[in-house]
Amino acid sequence: MKKKIEELINEAFNAKEKAYAPYSNFKVGAALLTRSGKIYTGCNIENASYGLTCCAERVAIFKAVSEGEKEFDTLVVVGDTDEPISPCGACRQVMSEFGDYEVILVSKNRKIKKVSVKELLPYSFEKENLEK
Ligand code: THU
Repeated sequence: MKKKIEELINEAFNAKEKAYAPYSNFKVGAALLTRSGKIYTGCNIENASYGLTCCAERVAIFKAVSEGEKEFDTLVVVGDTDEPISPCGACRQVMSEFGDYEVILVSKNRKIKKVSVKELLPYSFEKENLEK
């Protein structure tokens, strides 16, 4: 499949504008391309009970999974950072649930870092570990 990187980055920046982040004022956007060719976007959604906040990456992944999609091609994450944004540990674990795929991290000025899920979270927890 020809990857639509530029389109994904634009979608992620658009999603970032929808962020609900009145507590941190730090907006994040994500765009997830599935192997079926669809794009699911996400933004961070904060809460007065801070710990209930959901990051943009997880919103995008949960939207995709809730629509029946579990095979991912590329996840783009954008933030208002000088260097490409670095996803939190919880999101890395959620990403790794659905295998190894490309993750493109983007800064506010579109500086890009391409990594894989396995690079972001080596030696991740997997269900198989419980079954051995
Ligand atoms: N956040 C994300 O949405 N994704 C990241 O990769 C880093 C952090 C959000 C969570 C919170 O709403 C705000 O950014 C500050 O941590």
